[in-house]
Amino acid sequence: MSTHIDAEIGEIAETVLLPGDPLRAKWIAETFLENPFCYNEVRGMYGYTGTYKGKRVSVQGSGMGIPSAMIYYHELINDYGVKNMIRVGSAGSYQIDVKIRDIVLAMAASTTSGINNSRFINADYSPTANFELFMKAATFAKENNIPIKAGNVLSSDEFYEDDPNAYKQWAEFGVLCVEMEASGLYTVAARYNVKALAILTISDSLVTGERTSSLERESSFRQMIEIALGVL
Ligand code: ADE
Repeated sequence: MSTHIDAEIGEIAETVLLPGDPLRAKWIAETFLENPFCYNEVRGMYGYTGTYKGKRVSVQGSGMGIPSAMIYYHELINDYGVKNMIRVGSAGSYQIDVKIRDIVLAMAASTTSGINNSRFINADYSPTANFELFMKAATFAKENNIPIKAGNVLSSDEFYEDDPNAYKQWAEFGVLCVEMEASGLYTVAARYNVKALAILTISDSLVTGERTSSLERESSFRQMIEIALGVL
């Protein structure tokens, strides 16, 4: 086992879907995978491996925020040899034309986190999606008539901001939505030369104040998982 994951070597597939919520990992495994088995319960951060259309795939909860998620990303890559990492999560819209239930592919992930400031002193590193995974996801969505949007997203360190207008500057620079992990994923994937993509569904809007009900979240979540598994 690694420090935070209780799996034996070989129990985790080369491709892993990464929801923040461990109960989402359980739901994805039980809803979409054939013969899923749970390889991790440490800290309640469930991880499952099964098959989808005959191909091995794992689903691992990562927790909320870059510091938690990067622990799981790091160990999956370095202790279990994971090669393809697909975050599946929710995000808050920053743009009037990015509506709740929309699906967003994160081409790049800006951040308020200090992870790269301490690495690249006096310079900005741009964490980006892997082009091959990005193209596969975009092509799968197009072929299956699932509308998507794609662009820069913000991985924020804070869910609750003091200033309700703070999002506007990011919006003015074209950032589509806010979530809390993609920038860490793209950074660690680049560092260890593996492929990563974040696929997000819009659960709330900072522009209109709308939020999805849990039922609505489930159906848009399904389409996002179909895209992620379509990448396989
Ligand atoms: N994930 C979903 N909605 C979010 C929001 N408004 N801020 C940060 N992460 C989110």
